[in-house]
Amino acid sequence: MEILRLKKFSLLSILLLLSITSWRVTATSDNLHGDFLQCLLSYSQPSHPISQAIFTPKNSSYSSVLQAYIRNLRFNTTSTPKPLLIITALHESHIQTAIICARKHGLQMKIRSGGHNYEGISYVSEVPFFVLDMFNLRFIDVDIKNETAWVRLEQPWENFTIAFLKKAKLMASQLGFVLQWALVVTLVFNLVRVPETVTVFRVRRTLEENATEIVDQWQHVVERLPQELFIRLGLDVVNSTQTGKKTVRATFISLFLGDSHKLLSIMNESLPKLGLVQSDCIETSWVQSVLFWTHFPVGTPEEILLDRTPQSLTFYKIKSDYVKKPIPKDGLDFIWKRMIELERPTMAFNPYGGRMAEIPSTAVPFPHRAGNIWKIQYSADWNEPGDDAANRYINATRKLYNYMTPFVSKNPREAFFNYIDLDLGINHNGKDSYVEGKAYGIKYFLGNFNRLVKIKTEVDPENFFRNEQSIPVIFY
Ligand SMILES: Cc1cc2nc3c(=O)[nH]c(=O)nc-3n(C[C@H](O)[C@H](O)[C@H](O)COP(=O)(O)OP(=O)(O)OC[C@H]3O[C@@H](n4cnc5c(N)ncnc54)[C@H](O)[C@@H]3O)c2cc1C
Ligand SMILES: *[C@@H]1O[C@H](CO)[C@@H](O)[C@H](O)[C@H]1NC(C)=O
Ligand SMILES: *[C@@H]1O[C@H](CO)[C@@H](O)[C@H](O)[C@H]1NC(C)=O
Ligand SMILES: *[C@@H]1O[C@H](CO)[C@@H](O)[C@H](O)[C@H]1NC(C)=O
Ligand SMILES: *[C@@H]1O[C@H](CO)[C@@H](O)[C@H](O)[C@H]1NC(C)=O
Ligand SMILES: *[C@@H]1O[C@H](CO)[C@@H](O)[C@H](O)[C@H]1NC(C)=O
Ligand SMILES: *[C@@H]1O[C@H](CO)[C@@H](O)[C@H](O)[C@H]1NC(C)=O
Ligand SMILES: *[C@@H]1O[C@H](CO)[C@@H](O)[C@H](O)[C@H]1NC(C)=O
Ligand SMILES: *[C@@H]1O[C@H](CO)[C@@H](O)[C@H](O)[C@H]1NC(C)=O
Repeated sequence: MEILRLKKFSLLSILLLLSITSWRVTATSDNLHGDFLQCLLSYSQPSHPISQAIFTPKNSSYSSVLQAYIRNLRFNTTSTPKPLLIITALHESHIQTAIICARKHGLQMKIRSGGHNYEGISYVSEVPFFVLDMFNLRFIDVDIKNETAWVRLEQPWENFTIAFLKKAKLMASQLGFVLQWALVVTLVFNLVRVPETVTVFRVRRTLEENATEIVDQWQHVVERLPQELFIRLGLDVVNSTQTGKKTVRATFISLFLGDSHKLLSIMNESLPKLGLVQSDCIETSWVQSVLFWTHFPVGTPEEILLDRTPQSLTFYKIKSDYVKKPIPKDGLDFIWKRMIELERPTMAFNPYGGRMAEIPSTAVPFPHRAGNIWKIQYSADWNEPGDDAANRYINATRKLYNYMTPFVSKNPREAFFNYIDLDLGINHNGKDSYVEGKAYGIKYFLGNFNRLVKIKTEVDPENFFRNEQSIPVIFY
């Protein structure tokens, strides 16, 4: 959930480089791959040879490097377009070289960090492309005095960091500004103090256990809960205790920055219908609460957070929405019926309010502030490979999204950029790019969209940094 603030001078070095290398040739030659590779090698600095960072399909680890950060199995098929090569940047000079040569050869560059993009756009493209893989942007340096954490390409600080986190009384916060069109080389997180003891719970109620009443109470109080309390609501379809019947299950998952005694008293006052009791509550440290949210048992050694191999991977489709007023009870009943019909797609309701609502909607590109009670994440995941299963579950997810139309934001129907959804429109980055970009851009950025276009046009007029849903430039 963190939004990252950018270290301005690192970005500047890249932009400066863009402005002094203004030549550009269109790729036509079959030998593009060889020429591009030669270009990379010829710009390499002896102190930081780029060859150590280049993986072509001829290198035996090309596939494993590519697959290491594929997080959605829909983009791990034999028909998924593959990059000409992968550059796993080990040094800033590798990034500069990649940009110089990509511009020279008119080649699409895809940038990948964690690979969590829901639509795979950090490592898939319909045109010839290469991947600039930033997974080495991982070395963390905590500046306790200034309450910041710096993330860089170099220096092995990992052990220091995990040692720090164990004693941590801080958590990374969402602050600052992400430039949407450029390349992030260094990240700065602002840290926020947290108490030594926090409390978490995960409580489930089906329709037979009064889920409708509890959800209704949740939606009326959640915006006004104290800032220390976050309660996410998950909704999925499960077997009912009556054989052969399905029911909807509401799961309330919470982090409270305080002890269970205080939490129980707040819950008793604000959300008594949930019937939270002491035995539902787990008191732990903040870093352990991260494990809890990730479905590791509390008490698991924190080092597991350094493990980059996911517990499991699935095929999935995600969509998003914003809710500005509580859903009437007959609306909830309608939604439960449709969910039971569709069965697979789930919803997560992530409450807003609190700090989210205090920041003006024009302060950073992210605009969904005061007035939003919660954000919906629609999600279907599956394990069966092939187009049939994919079409079935993607269709089901779109149907649920359509059923929700009366209950969510309109004109525009807003969406969350982190839950990227290519159903909202695709940019071909040609002459219609502004109109194409506006279709999804207004949903993700509301009134900030045109400001982003203006800045984008100033800093990257050639639209070098582009993808299926990037900020477009205005052509003059
Ligand atoms: C399991 C899972 C859980 C998630 N949970 C949450 C959540 O709780 N809250 C939330 O808000 N989101 C969540 N997300 C969404 C996630 O935050 C976004 O998909 C985010 O963009 C992922 O960043 P990444 O670096 O891993 O992805 P990538 O796919 O590597 O990159 C995402 C986008 O950023 C670009 N990019 C990558 N690196 C750079 C760089 N160095 N400079 C410039 N551009 C770059 C890519 O080209 C791509 O367009 C989740 C995703 C997954 C898969
Ligand atoms: C990939 O193969 C090329 C050619 O053999 C070699 O120069 C390069 O160093 C290899 N890449 C890595 C990361 O080993
Ligand atoms: C991705 O595809 C490759 C090649 O088919 C396969 O070997 C690998 O196991 C797949 N990854 C996952 C996580 O299923
Ligand atoms: C801490 O912040 C101050 C003011 O912003 C700055 O001058 C100082 O260099 C920072 N310290 C470190 C170690 O970065
Ligand atoms: C981190 O610690 C582990 C074991 O404690 C050690 O094996 C590893 O080399 C250390 N890594 C770094 C980068 O210092
Ligand atoms: C559901 O609500 C009714 C009436 O308020 C109550 O009697 C019953 O105990 C509740 N059921 C559960 C499982 O909480
Ligand atoms: C739910 O019920 C179906 C049969 O109606 C059964 O096949 C399935 O295994 C059940 N699922 C679980 C999680 O019990
Ligand atoms: C819950 O609230 C009721 C009245 O609102 C009060 O009587 C009761 O003591 C409270 N229970 C706890 C555990 O705080
Ligand atoms: C999914 O929807 C598309 C278009 O709406 C339709 O052509 C296709 O048949 C549907 N597939 C399934 C499996 O429902």
